[in-house]
Amino acid sequence: MIASTTIPVVSRVSDLRVAADTARSQGKRVGLVPTMGYLHEGHKSLVACSVAQNDLTVVSVFVNPLQFVEGEDYGAYPRDLERDCRICAEAGAGLVFAPPTEEVYPQTPVTAVVVRGLNAVLEGRFRPTHFDGVTTVVAKLFAMVGPARAYFGEKDYQQLAIIRTMAADLSLPMEVVGCPTLREPDGLAMSSRNIYLTTEQRPAATVLWRSLQAGHEAVKGGSRDPSEVEAAMAEVLAAEAGVSVDYAAVVDAATLERPEVLAGELRLLVAARLGRARLIDNIGVDCGWL
Ligand code: PAF
Repeated sequence: MIASTTIPVVSRVSDLRVAADTARSQGKRVGLVPTMGYLHEGHKSLVACSVAQNDLTVVSVFVNPLQFVEGEDYGAYPRDLERDCRICAEAGAGLVFAPPTEEVYPQTPVTAVVVRGLNAVLEGRFRPTHFDGVTTVVAKLFAMVGPARAYFGEKDYQQLAIIRTMAADLSLPMEVVGCPTLREPDGLAMSSRNIYLTTEQRPAATVLWRSLQAGHEAVKGGSRDPSEVEAAMAEVLAAEAGVSVDYAAVVDAATLERPEVLAGELRLLVAARLGRARLIDNIGVDCGWL
C-alpha cells in the first residue's frame, strides 16, 4: 500500500482484497465508485453518496483500454492520480485502487460480460464494443471489491441501465445506485472530456443542454409523437455551428426502446461532437406528470 499524502492507494488486486475483506470482517459495508480518473465534482458527489451509505468507500481509478473503440482517445485520456487522490480524500473515501493495466488484464481476456440488446442502441451504434468493455471491467471490479453498493452517474444513463441489468442477470448480491448529473452553472454536464473543449467551443457546448430543454418543452407542450420531440431537439443542435450530431433521441426510461407514442417515464438523450470532444447528455421526463 502506498501512503499517499491524503489517502491510502493500492495498485494490486491482492492488497485491495485484503482491505475489503478486513472491512467486511469488521461488519463494515463497502461502497465502490468505479471511475477512469480525472475526477470532477460529479465524481465527488458519487463518493459523497457512497460515504453517506457505507462504512468504507473504495474509488477505483483505471482507464480501461477495453472500452475504447479504435480511433478513440485511450492514449490521450486525461490522467492525474495525485489530484484524484486529493479529491477522494476530501470527499471522505477510505481507499483508492489505481492498478496498472497488467494488474486488471494479466493476459488478453477471452472472457467478456455482454449485456445484449441494450449494448447495441444509442451509444452502441456509434461505439460498437464499448459497453462490452465497460461491463467486463465493471464485473471484474465488482469481483475484486465485493461491494454492498456501487455508484454510477446518470450522465452515462445507458451505461447505468446496462450495469443494472448485468447485476440483476448475474444475481450479484449488491445494489447499483444511480446518482444525478452535476452541471456547470450554464447547464453543461460535468465530464472529464470537457477538458477537450477549446475556449471558443466551450459556450457552444451548452447546446446539448439546450437541446434537451427543447425536447422537454415539446413533451410538456403536449407532444406525444417521438419524431416531433426529436425534431425539436435536433433543430437546436443544428443551429449551433461546428457541432456534429450523433443522435437526439427519446426512449422509454426503463427499456431504452423508442415508443410509438410517448407515455410514462421517458429519457431524452443527445450525443454530439465539437472538435476533439464527443459529449453526451440526457434528462428524464415523466409524461404522467405533464
Ligand atoms: O463511467 C466510467 O467512468 C467508466 O465507464 C467506468 C464505469 C469506470 C468503467 O470503466
